Amino acid sequence: MRSHMLCRFVFVLTLAAAQADDRYHPERVATASVSPTSRPLPDRAELSAQHWVQEAQAGIRARQRGARTSTADRVARNVVMFLGDGMSVTTLAAARTLLGQRQGRPGEESQLAFETFPTVGLTKTYCVNSQIASHLDSIAAWALAAGRDAGIVTTTRVTHASPAGVYARAANRNWESDANVRQDNQDPAQCRDIAYQLIHSFPGNHLKVVLGGGRREFIPTTSIDEEGTWGRRTDGRNLLEEWQQDKIRRNVTYRYVWNRDQLMSANDDLPDYLLGLFEGNHMQYNLEADNRTEPSLAELTEVAIRSLSRNEKGFFLFVEGGRIDHAHHDNLVELALDETLEMSAAVARAAELLSEDDSLIVVTADHAHVMTLNGYSPRGTDILGPSNDRDEAGVPYMTLSYSNGPGFRPHINGTRADVTTEPNYRRVEWMSHVDVPLESETHGGEDVAVFARGPQHAMFAGLYEQSQLPHLMAYAACIGPGLHACSAAATHVLTPALLAAIVWLTMLKG
Ligand SMILES: *[C@@H]1O[C@H](CO)[C@@H](O)[C@H](O)[C@H]1NC(C)=O
Ligand SMILES: *[C@@H]1O[C@H](CO)[C@@H](O)[C@H](O)[C@H]1NC(C)=O
Ligand SMILES: *[C@@H]1O[C@H](CO)[C@@H](O)[C@H](O)[C@H]1NC(C)=O
Ligand SMILES: [Zn+2]
Repeated sequence: MRSHMLCRFVFVLTLAAAQADDRYHPERVATASVSPTSRPLPDRAELSAQHWVQEAQAGIRARQRGARTSTADRVARNVVMFLGDGMSVTTLAAARTLLGQRQGRPGEESQLAFETFPTVGLTKTYCVNSQIASHLDSIAAWALAAGRDAGIVTTTRVTHASPAGVYARAANRNWESDANVRQDNQDPAQCRDIAYQLIHSFPGNHLKVVLGGGRREFIPTTSIDEEGTWGRRTDGRNLLEEWQQDKIRRNVTYRYVWNRDQLMSANDDLPDYLLGLFEGNHMQYNLEADNRTEPSLAELTEVAIRSLSRNEKGFFLFVEGGRIDHAHHDNLVELALDETLEMSAAVARAAELLSEDDSLIVVTADHAHVMTLNGYSPRGTDILGPSNDRDEAGVPYMTLSYSNGPGFRPHINGTRADVTTEPNYRRVEWMSHVDVPLESETHGGEDVAVFARGPQHAMFAGLYEQSQLPHLMAYAACIGPGLHACSAAATHVLTPALLAAIVWLTMLKG
């Protein structure tokens, strides 16, 4: 701790540090790169110790209330899992600060929608041997076997790794169309591509709502989609037409939509099955999209929840903020934080639409990234700007920077480049500074947070393996094999549908 900081918990350490000459936390003269007058000031009440005592007591009362009105003995009829792809804990801290600063406040005190949830846990994120971790496919199949509905919403191609985990089994996450399977010298008739599985295989063909990007994986190389993107399929199939034919054959109502207007009109007259593909490739970043033609993640989430809520038995919905990851890989920090805020808005919408009494909402990430929040800037300093500090050569450095990625700048005569003088500095496409030049920034290996609200939320506390998550959700919802909240002693009731699902899973695993 540096002696002049108004930090709140470690008063003793603060005093100790003030007395020693602390080479680990040296005093540095603030530079002119951050003007104190341009910063929003914290609420004056924060300067009194009494304020923080009251804040702590309010926190205790809120937890007491949470314990008394606990939903511990309830069962989750509905489960919504939000996945922020690459949404590290550092990303959360930076995004909440940006949220507050956009509202003209210092920022650090803000909260993302899910940061108010009663339970927070951590999961480890290592994989046994593969990128596609967890067993999300199981939980969608378990929900369907229990007579509930299931759906997916994502800002990436719907055939991209995380949403595909809900419905597809593929040896390679890149096998999004038959062309990718052929490129790897495999037979697409043996190894079905992910788009094919979504349209023709269980559980993909039973998902009531599928919303995201990726039209190109569903149409042949000889045709272009509604917005001019060429298809990628080399088997000549148009899976969007086949999806519609399948619904006609099953005598169910259906609608395919590809822009925001069509989505909103479908929302007014919901079909049994809704497929919305809003881009040829991934959906655009929120900051770069035209919100008159492109739906937001919150809008997609709302339509999905309204559609699935028609099933009285309940539903499982997977919602992915998938482009947080992409922006981090390109060191585009403002986009990464903005996509995180879009996910927070989507969670807020879900929390408004669904009751805590019967709907479990879980918000988590699959892995971290190597973005750091560093330096010693004063409260309220622009989170996207330089630290209130300079390196040993007097060159500014950014509060948010990456340990690797494409944003590397060669040193000039042994000195770092001053990135704040670059012509496109702070524009959306401006890349943050990095240490190690790489074509794409890497994932980070630390744990990620899990936020839970609704029935059985307390089960999500602690530090555990990521692969426990679908089992915890299944426990809360009383679906699938294994322990259930509704009969803690029970293993499982083998309905014919459930047995079929287990056999199906076993066959595919074998
Ligand atoms: C199709 O569904 C409608 C409405 O549910 C029903 O009235 C009709 O009989 C069904 N047709 C067939 C061939 O099953
Ligand atoms: C679209 O963006 C504009 C400008 O940011 C904003 O004023 C408007 O409310 C947005 N519309 C929707 C539907 O989100
Ligand atoms: C690097 O240092 C050399 C020698 O001092 C000088 O001539 C040169 O202009 C410097 N280059 C840059 C880009 O500053
Ligand atoms: Zn990634």
